[in-house]
Amino acid sequence: MVRMGVVASAPAKVILFGEHFVVYGEPSIVLAIDKRAYATAENRNDKLLYLRSLNLNLAGYFENGVFKIEQGDLREAKLKFEPVKLAVEKVLEKYGENVGLNIEINSTVPVAAGLGSSAAVVAAVTTAVSALLNVKMSKEDIFRITYEAEKIVHGTPSGIDPAIATFGGTLLFQMDTGFKPLDAKMDIPLIVGDTGVERSTRVQVEKVRHISERYPQVVEPIMQAGREIVLRAIEALKQNDLEILGELMNINHALLYGVGVSDESLEWLINAARKAGALGAKLTGAGGGGCMIALAKNEKLEQVLEAIQRAGGRPFIARKTDEGVKVERT
Ligand code: PMV
Repeated sequence: MVRMGVVASAPAKVILFGEHFVVYGEPSIVLAIDKRAYATAENRNDKLLYLRSLNLNLAGYFENGVFKIEQGDLREAKLKFEPVKLAVEKVLEKYGENVGLNIEINSTVPVAAGLGSSAAVVAAVTTAVSALLNVKMSKEDIFRITYEAEKIVHGTPSGIDPAIATFGGTLLFQMDTGFKPLDAKMDIPLIVGDTGVERSTRVQVEKVRHISERYPQVVEPIMQAGREIVLRAIEALKQNDLEILGELMNINHALLYGVGVSDESLEWLINAARKAGALGAKLTGAGGGGCMIALAKNEKLEQVLEAIQRAGGRPFIARKTDEGVKVERT
C-alpha cells in the first residue's frame, strides 16, 4: 500500500543536572521538553532521496549516494543531511528494498545550542519513514539508529540525545549503568534562554579535562558534589519540591562555573533570571555559550522570560514532556 505524508515528531532535551561530570562517570538528569522536531515522509516514483529542511532553508537530494544541492549552502546541507541519510538507509535495509522518498524536516528546536536538535530530527525521520513503509520498529531500534547517526555528528556521544529523543520523559544517565527512567510526575516549568553564542561541546569538554588534570585534588570534590546534587535532586523530584530543585540548580551552576565552562553571555542571562524571581538557574549542556535554563513558579514564568530577553537572550518556556518519538499523522 502506498501512503502519503506520514508525519512523526521527537522532543528536544535539556540537561537538568550533571553535565560534564557525567563524562567522568557521575550521574546526570535529563528531561525531554515540549519543543519538537517534525519530519514528513512521502513516497516518490523514482529512487531519489529528496531532503528539505524548512527551518534551515536547505534542500537537495541524494542520487546513488551523491548529494546535489537545490537550496542553501552545499557544505552545511551535507553536514546536516548526512545523519538523516544514514538513518533512512538503515530503515530501507530493514525494508529490504531501495525506494525513493521525500523527507521534509521542520524543527522548532534551536540548532547547535545543546538541546539535542539533530537527534530529535533523526529520530523523527526514522519513525516517519518506517511508518510510511510499514517497517516494524521498536523504540530500541529507533534509539540504536539515531545513536548510529549521531556518531557522524558528534564522534563519540554519550547517547543522551538519542535516548531522550526516542523515549522522552526524565532519565537518569550514568556512563556505566546507562539510562534509567526517573519517577518525576511533577510539572517542571522552565525557561530556556539561548545566548546565541555558538560553542563546541568538544572544546568545553577539553577545558574541563585540562583543569581536572592540573588540579585533580580540587576538581575531584567538585565532581563528588555534582553527584550529591543529582542524588538529592532525585528525592526532590519524587517529593515535587521545586524550591529544592532550584537551589540545587544554583549550586550545580556554581560548580560548572568553577571548572570554567560558564561565560559572560550565560552569566548575564542567569543573573537576570534569578533577579526576576527564578527559583534557580544554570547553564545547560556544554556551556561556553549555548543555553541556560531557569526554573520558576508558573506565576513568575513570564517575568523571568522577559528578563532573559532584556538581557539579550532568546528565551522560550519549556515543559517536561513524557512523549518520546511518535507518529503524528499517517
Ligand atoms: O552538547 P551538549 O550541549 O548537549 O552537552 C553535552 C554534555 C556534556 O556533558 C558536556 C558532554 C557529554 O558528552 O555528556
